[in-house]
Amino acid sequence: ALISMRQLLDHAAEHGYGVPAFNVNNLEQMRAIMEAADATDSPVIVQASAGARKYAGAPFLRHLILAAVEEFPHIPVVMHQDHGTSPAVCQRSIQLGFSSVMMDGSLGEDGKTPTDYDYNVDVTRRTVEMAHACGVSVEGELGCLGSLETGMAGEEDGIGAEGVLDHSQLLTDPEEAADFVRATQVDALAIAIGTSHGAYKFTRPPTGDTLSIQRIKEIHARLPDTHLVMHGSSSVPQEWLEVINRFGGEIDETYGVPVDEIVEGIKHGVRKVNIDTDLRLASTGAIRRFMAEHPSEFDPRKYLAETVKAMRDIAAARYEAFGTAGQA
Ligand code: G3H
Ligand code: 13P
Ligand code: NA
Ligand code: ZN
Repeated sequence: ALISMRQLLDHAAEHGYGVPAFNVNNLEQMRAIMEAADATDSPVIVQASAGARKYAGAPFLRHLILAAVEEFPHIPVVMHQDHGTSPAVCQRSIQLGFSSVMMDGSLGEDGKTPTDYDYNVDVTRRTVEMAHACGVSVEGELGCLGSLETGMAGEEDGIGAEGVLDHSQLLTDPEEAADFVRATQVDALAIAIGTSHGAYKFTRPPTGDTLSIQRIKEIHARLPDTHLVMHGSSSVPQEWLEVINRFGGEIDETYGVPVDEIVEGIKHGVRKVNIDTDLRLASTGAIRRFMAEHPSEFDPRKYLAETVKAMRDIAAARYEAFGTAGQA
């Protein structure tokens, strides 16, 4: 059944688990996520970005998610809009039937220029008024995502601040967060705690302090009833980088957010964990390997089925690690 984010994350908070929110653009991703959720008895958050709507078309995307609800009626599904850049974008998603929207007022309508606090409060508060009147949940964002190691937002295209960010922008201020939630009434708050979008998060192997767990604790202490969201939470599996590069790819050395650090965050109020890059890497590795090993094969279902398997294994591993498994 389709449920709101608030319903799911309230349950997650009560039972102390986190929910991975996977980005969807196509049938294979949707199927991988649902098969993993079915196998592990997990509730689901799927999210669609502006890029996803551009790629698949809004009606296809909407029906892809509704098809998942129809085929897996026993699994709760949140249909979430990722990184809305204005109240108008969020309004269109609500009209399309999304049960949750993100109003990302930390960046301007171009998705890259950092905004001031008052702008962020204004667009987020207006979105909440509209969404709550329709039973739809809202995620806001305060602070600029960026790696504590490099100060970079990561994404070269898509959502992400341009240039190098200074340290104060990279960590959400707890007092400001409390004020923001009071002023906007958001259901969930995305915070900056050291993550960034995309595959190039960290240049060195992690040593256990990728995230500022301390900052998560401080924000959670001020906002015990607000569900915290971590964007840029891909772990960048080294085994998939190895497969990609073995079969003709060229991806530079890079590291993501270790799963055990995310699990630590979940102990301190993180409820929604955004993952896109990991499924992209698994999917690309699976295709490269299949193509190299079966050069005469030309039925797309053969290599696309490999992507479903690869993505399903990652999704299932995250459901298990975050405690989502068994909660559907
Ligand atoms: O926030 C970024 C997500 O990974 C979505 O990426 O805008 O390329 O669809 P996209
Ligand atoms: P990753 O690029 O780390 O997968 O993050 C995705 C994300 O935050 C989508 O909003
Ligand atoms: Na989002
Ligand atoms: Zn994001």
